[in-house]
Amino acid sequence: MHVLVTGGAGYIGSHATLRLLEDGHRVTVYDNLDRGHQATVKILQAFGGERYRFVRGDLLETEALRTALAGVDAVMHFAALAHVGESVIDPFRYWSVNLGGTLSLLTAMRDAKTPRLVFSSTCATYGEPPPERIPIAEDCPQAPVNPYGASKLACERLIKDVAEAHRRNGLPFGFALLRYFNVCGSDPKARLGEDHDPETHLIPICLEVALGQRKELTVFGEDWDTPDGTCIRDYVHVTDLVDAHVRVLEKLAPGAELIYNVGTGQGASVREVLNACRRVTGRPVAERRGDRRPGDPPALVNSPAKIRRELGWTAARANLDVMIEDSWRWRKDHPHGYGGSRR
Ligand code: UFG
Repeated sequence: MHVLVTGGAGYIGSHATLRLLEDGHRVTVYDNLDRGHQATVKILQAFGGERYRFVRGDLLETEALRTALAGVDAVMHFAALAHVGESVIDPFRYWSVNLGGTLSLLTAMRDAKTPRLVFSSTCATYGEPPPERIPIAEDCPQAPVNPYGASKLACERLIKDVAEAHRRNGLPFGFALLRYFNVCGSDPKARLGEDHDPETHLIPICLEVALGQRKELTVFGEDWDTPDGTCIRDYVHVTDLVDAHVRVLEKLAPGAELIYNVGTGQGASVREVLNACRRVTGRPVAERRGDRRPGDPPALVNSPAKIRRELGWTAARANLDVMIEDSWRWRKDHPHGYGGSRR
């Protein structure tokens, strides 16, 4: 298959590209390198050879997308802005890139007659589900509490509307919406890693403290209604997440409409993650008590029943220490990430 991967120079998109190349597919990465890394292009090029192609372009450039889509069988659409806090401060940018970008992509896909789409959605579309809806199943009401989650939910709706129109027009189109929980870890062979600028995610920040690059981790609230008072999340390894993409792609027949949450089903608190980072690195990770972060739900844990039943997917690297070990391996080798502006 020839797959176009938007955001294929970013964290999850680059891991997906590597897996697709390993499986023998052709991949065109479409990325504007705003948050993606030029360094991944070299790594993936070396791995994929002629089966890898990089196109530097923006999602809002519909014409460039249309050209890049020639001969493409499926799109994996990762390119997006994905920081909850940033979305509250700059909703214009989030709506423009996430919803505007997806509309542009769907327009180009319609013109190029591209028949399959796998879309990166998020458990942030569920907002703050009541305790009786946790673990969260796919039929949990979606009520996002920040612009990031709202923009992704709007994309889901847009994709469904477009698919319905394609169906009425007799065009073959199948789509999958994958709602990710907290993605972490990196390629177990340490070929690729996680590098965000600015970094806001819990595990990479703990590792930066372990490396001596930051003074401490600020724990955002210790008075939540959870067993140890810190927020609970469902951490899923990026290679497991990518495996879910590959499985869903295989099922994407024309007319298919597949919706899955992707998370292990096991929750870990901020404190448990912090202690696991200390254990794995063998180094001190200083902490300080901070205020609650606006927009943070207390607990988000997936119910993986549907994806297990229908796709046979389970998380092979669900152990928290294993996830952190993989992140740590790459990070120790690349203390300044891919060598971007933080170097
Ligand atoms: N946290 C801290 N201190 C920090 C950073 C994070 O205490 O310095 C806490 C947060 O409050 C939260 C947990 O660690 O309770 C995880 O925070 P992250 O920032 O790592 O992840 P989020 O849960 O906020 O968001 C991530 C992705 C989103 C995605 C979401 C799904 O960034 O794109 O997971 O849960 F939607």
